[in-house]
Amino acid sequence: MRRKMAAGNWKMNGSVAGLDMISALASAHSDSGCDIVICPPAHLLMSAAKRAGTGPVAVGAQDCHASDKGAHTGDIAAPMIAETGAAYVITGHSERRETYGETDAAVRDKSAAAQGCGLVPIVCIGESLEQREAGEALPVIRAQLENSVPEGSTGATLVVAYEPIWAIGTGKIPTLDQIAEVHTALRADLVARFGPEGDKIRLLYGGSVKPGNAADIFGTKDVDGALVGGASLTADDFSPIIAALTAS
Ligand code: PGA
Repeated sequence: MRRKMAAGNWKMNGSVAGLDMISALASAHSDSGCDIVICPPAHLLMSAAKRAGTGPVAVGAQDCHASDKGAHTGDIAAPMIAETGAAYVITGHSERRETYGETDAAVRDKSAAAQGCGLVPIVCIGESLEQREAGEALPVIRAQLENSVPEGSTGATLVVAYEPIWAIGTGKIPTLDQIAEVHTALRADLVARFGPEGDKIRLLYGGSVKPGNAADIFGTKDVDGALVGGASLTADDFSPIIAALTAS
């Protein structure tokens, strides 16, 4: 049985004052049985991890460098993230793939660096609208999975997030059948590659997850939770999504 996960990606939003949300979520969902993760911008990681303490909310970063240290102005290394008390790091988000030209190989190296210091990477993959309309969604996503995920990954060291690029921040989501089709294919590929461990790796859906559509998405086959952007910025929005996950 895979433990469900609700991960919030704050992107370039949030403030010290906004970390109050961690305490609000911790008291509202102390017994959810789900992993709850907040991924704030890097400057908030240490305060967020302190605030989260040993409670039910974990903290993650939004990116890491593949190297442990060096002349990489503006970047943050995985061991630095681990030192803040964070436990997760998002890798390969489509906004980074698009803006910074991150390739599957770069995402794999970042993810391996994260695993190397005990962080769990949440590896993002997903097709563009053009690829979906051309009928290429599945082969594109499966190739991303193959090439972005490090060898030797296990259920304890990897989370995968399927995020169709055209669903991110747009209010549009795929049909539930489309989500199920992708997650079933990804599950099969993970099992083919990693054996029984492949069945333990969590598969999140991401892209315009809201309180109003969360229950339907969480009821979809092989969906183990969500990576949530806009609706993770306030407890008012994120809390009902966690509640829907708990109830699913
Ligand atoms: P969204 O973002 O929920 O605002 O669509 C999801 C993401 O980019 O992870």
